[in-house]
Amino acid sequence: MNDNHFVLKMNNISKEFPGVKALTNVNIDLKKGEVLAVVGENGAGKSTLIKILAGTYGNDFEGKIRLNGETIEVNGPRFAIDLGISTIYQETSLVQNITVAENIFLGRQPTTKMGRIDWSKMINDSKNIMDNLSIGIPPTEIISNLSAAKQQMVEIAKAFSYEAKIIIMDEPTSAITDEDTRILFGIIKRIVSQGKSVIYISHRIKEIFEIADRVTVLRDGQVVKTMDIKDTDEDELVKNMIGRQIGDLFGEKSYAHGEEIVLKVKNLTRTGKFRDVSFDLKKGEILGFSGLVGSGRSEVVRAIFGLDWLDGGELYLNGEKINIKNTSDSLNKGIAFVSEDRRLESIIQGFPVKSNITILLLHKVLNKLRLISSRQETRLAKKYVKEFSVKTPTLEQLVMNLSGGNQQKVALAKSLSTNPKILILDEPTKGIDVGAKKEIHTLIKKLASEGISIIMVSSELPEVIGMCHRVLVMKEGRVMKIFEGDQITEVNIMQASIGNV
Ligand SMILES: Nc1ncnc2c1ncn2[C@@H]1O[C@H](COP(=O)(O)OP(=O)(O)OP(=O)(O)O)[C@@H](O)[C@H]1O
Ligand SMILES: [Mg+2]
Repeated sequence: MNDNHFVLKMNNISKEFPGVKALTNVNIDLKKGEVLAVVGENGAGKSTLIKILAGTYGNDFEGKIRLNGETIEVNGPRFAIDLGISTIYQETSLVQNITVAENIFLGRQPTTKMGRIDWSKMINDSKNIMDNLSIGIPPTEIISNLSAAKQQMVEIAKAFSYEAKIIIMDEPTSAITDEDTRILFGIIKRIVSQGKSVIYISHRIKEIFEIADRVTVLRDGQVVKTMDIKDTDEDELVKNMIGRQIGDLFGEKSYAHGEEIVLKVKNLTRTGKFRDVSFDLKKGEILGFSGLVGSGRSEVVRAIFGLDWLDGGELYLNGEKINIKNTSDSLNKGIAFVSEDRRLESIIQGFPVKSNITILLLHKVLNKLRLISSRQETRLAKKYVKEFSVKTPTLEQLVMNLSGGNQQKVALAKSLSTNPKILILDEPTKGIDVGAKKEIHTLIKKLASEGISIIMVSSELPEVIGMCHRVLVMKEGRVMKIFEGDQITEVNIMQASIGNV
């Protein structure tokens, strides 16, 4: 094929961090009007590759980038944007307390002759950009009122306003529902039909077959293969990613749970968030929390763990009424929690892997006035790093230097280190690669079979259906239904999520 068909070519890209060779001689090309998926295990180098393109690392890499045949230098994020390369990261970079229109035109608002902000032009232009992509969000809406999915759409509109030719998305769907994913895909199709190109990173293999034209597989910082999507299938793709076949993702749900009620939740209410939430959690049970994003699932589990306050309701642990005022209370009572937002809550970015895994233990041990030995700490950290296959050069590596998926594994290890009786997981496999996902599913089932009771909030229906003994569905802060056994189906859960019960 003639070179002109490619808008972008990245040649022989190599990038090294202290002790880590993140990329070695990577070659990637992108055609005009295509969606190129980039896949690979956690730590394979996907984010590093697109950060190079986005100007994050300036000149600090080896290799060459060519845009429409011309060699370019992306000496900083600004350069990339001016060259028409826009990146949308999983964590939004929008300013939360101002409007959609202001975000789109942040730092370059149109002004009137008098030098004031020309609101009507700004609102109008924003509306035009969004209409063109069929994004139905009012330009005057405040960002913080929008769901994660809608915020992402605003980011896309913003990229468009910069006349981006290449839009890069790093795991855009890991925090949004299936329904919003549909809408996002519609927008992506409109983007490429206008001759723009998209680089799409995701761990959801099924999605890639829906949206991508070609796929490049990275493993250990090297390109394994680039394929036309129509010439491959899920098995082959996964095999290329992890170098082996993994078989059925969920396996059997054959394990049984106990009958004794470990946690009884009665009429929990937090004004404006959720109301009269009641359910039982049995010993060794995996209870799924389903519902649309914003239905109140995370709010409920956060309040149970003592992260947010309650306005009403009761909690009973093994039949005894308990009061949870903060997270030390819940940890001391054997309740552990892994937040959906690992960056903010679950782990300390500037601390080593080792201390992150054992930090809660320290708190527990100190409470009993004993000290934990460094050797014990190391042994424990080692065990989890191995069990979860955390990709890190050493136990001393700072967590902020790990890939997204590996940070998530550290967060899981941290909460398990306290030997909890009740484990609350909010989107536990968000951003985790297929191989590790299966390992984490197996681990969750193993914990349950050992008698730990698990609440699992998840937006991934296959995960909920494949893993949970019962599934509680929420809508607008209320429990719509709790499904069990054969009743746990995609249709039933979806119907309940939108209020058809
Ligand atoms: N700033 C950094 N300092 C040191 N090592 C880093 C840094 N950034 C990334 N790495 C390492 O480079 C490798 C590639 O990481 P990268 O974030 O690109 O992976 P990824 O494919 O995006 O993974 P994930 O699917 O988990 O997001 C990993 O081993 C990671 O630990
Ligand atoms: Mg990444």
